[in-house]
Amino acid sequence: MSEALIQCRDVIKRFPLPDGKGEFTAIQDITLEVRRGEVLALLGRSGSGKSTLLRIMAGLIPPSGGRVMNGGAELRGPNSDVAMVFQSFALLPWLTVLGNVEIGLEARGVGRVERMRRAIKMIDLVGLDGFEDAYPKELSGGMKQRVGCARALVMQPKVLFMDEPFSALDVLTAENLRGEIDDLWNAGSFPSQAILIVTHNIEEAVILADRVIVFGANPGHIRGEVAIELPRPHARTDPRFEQYIDHLYAVMTKPTMAVEVDLGAGTTAAMQRSPFAQPLPHVRIGGISGLLELLSERPQNGEEIAELAERLAVTPDDLLALLDACTLLDFVRIDLATVSLTDIGRDFATTTILRSKDLFRQQLLERVPLFDSIARTLRERKNNTMRADFFLDLWDEYFPADDAQRQFATAIEWGRYAELFEYDAGEGVLFLPEEVEQRMPFPT
Ligand SMILES: Nc1ncnc2c1ncn2[C@@H]1O[C@H](COP(=O)(O)OP(=O)(O)O)[C@@H](O)[C@H]1O
Ligand SMILES: [Mg+2]
Repeated sequence: MSEALIQCRDVIKRFPLPDGKGEFTAIQDITLEVRRGEVLALLGRSGSGKSTLLRIMAGLIPPSGGRVMNGGAELRGPNSDVAMVFQSFALLPWLTVLGNVEIGLEARGVGRVERMRRAIKMIDLVGLDGFEDAYPKELSGGMKQRVGCARALVMQPKVLFMDEPFSALDVLTAENLRGEIDDLWNAGSFPSQAILIVTHNIEEAVILADRVIVFGANPGHIRGEVAIELPRPHARTDPRFEQYIDHLYAVMTKPTMAVEVDLGAGTTAAMQRSPFAQPLPHVRIGGISGLLELLSERPQNGEEIAELAERLAVTPDDLLALLDACTLLDFVRIDLATVSLTDIGRDFATTTILRSKDLFRQQLLERVPLFDSIARTLRERKNNTMRADFFLDLWDEYFPADDAQRQFATAIEWGRYAELFEYDAGEGVLFLPEEVEQRMPFPT
């Protein structure tokens, strides 16, 4: 593990209440460290004490309890190893870009020539070459924040603090600037040894951070941390990227959910992800058997997708959903623009109804973890019955309300056909038919 540059130990901050009667606790028992070489994100809702903690670690305000260690010694005043980028830019309107970037160096007693040399270098680094003499009011929000970054980086702080640096920018500008910071960091040309960034944007945290510390509120405290174990830059196309986003989204919407997660070696995506997160293609069983029968009646194995829609008299969207369902269940295989039956698919299309139900059930249990999960839940209940709401809530975590309802409806139709479970719409319950339990031993 890398060296700790700044450490907080049991840090507490209380503020006097406005009526003068007593105090209120803004943050409680914060213990964390910023390590050399890392980007650390603090993720939490507004009011959870993130900015307060940054101010304490920057030495701008003292903690009410606990200690801040900086480079091994207790911090007792402004932290000269830290520079801050603020959400509000906080530029001085009467100074030019150059003047704003130089001001910290001036305060540190750096001579005029050296000051200008360093400032111009940083202004170049943040892409503002040519704007040295412009005033803040002449700049767009994105450019102002570039000045904010240059002003902090020119101090060559060991740790760069960024307090919601992109929140005041429009989405595209924010994404550009964030991307540039990430590029600089990944290229190893960053003037600081670590970045501590505060955000309430989950995607921003996953893109930039090596570790995400999640804050809870009332009073502000640490709920836990997630290590983003992806190669840098963190690619949105990596399936684990989505999993981190999904996980942190669930964490942020559920104050009691455990934060820790490990998507690392040895665990596959399917094991980590909730079975309720996997979307089911919304198709009816009749559609599936219709497609498979049509394919089985063709003399050659393999049919052009373009021709299928016409033969089945379905819209292209419906056909795609059918093909999704059939590949999910391993009934068909798609090569380029051709669909052909697998052995199981051919069997399903040509056998008796009873056996095709068996095949369908077998494929559901093997290939769609959702069905095994529902059946197990029912089996573990005393009367093998469970309120439908319970399952709907699980879908609600991953889908908008209407979609959750459709997932539910499709799962019910498939599960019923497979005779895995039954649904009583009047009572609003799912249950396990008794004969299912006798016929289908579930491995434990
Ligand atoms: N100087 C202060 N005096 C009194 N209360 C404060 C002061 N600074 C922050 N707070 C309060 O502390 C809590 C945490 O605020 P803050 O650190 O800004 O949270 P965050 O940055 O996570 O939104 C809030 O309830 C805020 O109103
Ligand atoms: Mg804040």
